[in-house]
Amino acid sequence: MNIIPAFDLHQQYEQLRPEVDAAIARTLNSGAYILGKEVSAFETEFAQYCETSFAVGAASGTDALSLALMACEIGAGDEVIAPSQTAVATIAAIERTGAFPRLVDIDPARYTIDPEKIAQAITPKTKAMIPVHLYGCPAEMQPILNLAKEKEIFVIEDAAQAHGALWNGRKAGSLGDIAAFSFYPTKNLGAFGDGGAVLTNNPKLAERVRLLHQYGWKERYVSSVKGMNSRLDEMQAAILRVKLKHLDKWNQRRRQIADLYRKCLSSAHVLLPPHPLDVEPVYHQFVIRHPNRDSLRAALQALGIHTLVHYPIPVHLQPGYANLGLKRGSLPHSEQAAEEILSLPIYPELTDEQVQKVASAICSLA
Ligand SMILES: Cc1ncc(COP(=O)(O)O)c(C=O)c1O
Repeated sequence: MNIIPAFDLHQQYEQLRPEVDAAIARTLNSGAYILGKEVSAFETEFAQYCETSFAVGAASGTDALSLALMACEIGAGDEVIAPSQTAVATIAAIERTGAFPRLVDIDPARYTIDPEKIAQAITPKTKAMIPVHLYGCPAEMQPILNLAKEKEIFVIEDAAQAHGALWNGRKAGSLGDIAAFSFYPTKNLGAFGDGGAVLTNNPKLAERVRLLHQYGWKERYVSSVKGMNSRLDEMQAAILRVKLKHLDKWNQRRRQIADLYRKCLSSAHVLLPPHPLDVEPVYHQFVIRHPNRDSLRAALQALGIHTLVHYPIPVHLQPGYANLGLKRGSLPHSEQAAEEILSLPIYPELTDEQVQKVASAICSLA
């Protein structure tokens, strides 16, 4: 049976092997393995790509979120509003600062945080909100930015799934006060290991992130504030520089695949992903919905078509997050989505024939 995997990272390496191997060799030969030329060049190139003034590398997307929160001086006693239907990393980053994650529901038509629910959740302790640009589709930013201005709270974008996505013609990661990206290998721009970055147009926030990500050092061995160690690895930066040059082409291919899925699935009894008018998504995931998701998924698996679920349990229902005090039924749109969503294979190397095979299997099953 010809398997169609949910993702295939090795194919991308094969395609780029000479460039990637040269970048790795260049780094090894340089003798500089921590915060060398590759990291600073990548920071400049990625900031340019995202149309922001500053980028600071970090060890992961989760760390990038924590650093962004810490740069905004958020900690114990503060509240941060975020969606429950997200990678648990978003919420883990908030908890790590000591702040309380106030989780709210999603807009079911878009899967991103519902701005009306944010407005209802704001308290005098609210210091920030984190819109997550889930599946590569930017959140509904206008009401979020308006609220932030009115209430004087920070907007921290979780852009881990949205490298290159546009909202009203502007790049994800350049829309709020500060943003976090992940370069986890499966992301639209993925390293061959862990990595992340914090982006901002605000020089003060950029400077604080730069201090915080390396022991609070401005000058070596002198901690001007308490910081941590969260550096983008030099080797990963060299690899990311190679891959960044291909990102627009890869995102374009993801959009083509999404269009083909939409065409081939138009008569299937599944709900297709939204395409809001104010965005140009980058389809980190192509997420359909079906009331009997688990049986559809099992039937596809039996045909050699691998799918994933992002995410099967909203964070407020995870056993480790019982402290948030939100019971089943409290965020109904997130809970229902978690039961019905299914992420189909989507990556630039997927062929039209494979897409058609996935779609025709779904048409015959749903
Ligand atoms: C929405 C979102 N936020 C944060 C993260 C955390 O990134 P990382 O795995 O690099 O820590 C991820 C990826 O896993 C993600 O998808």
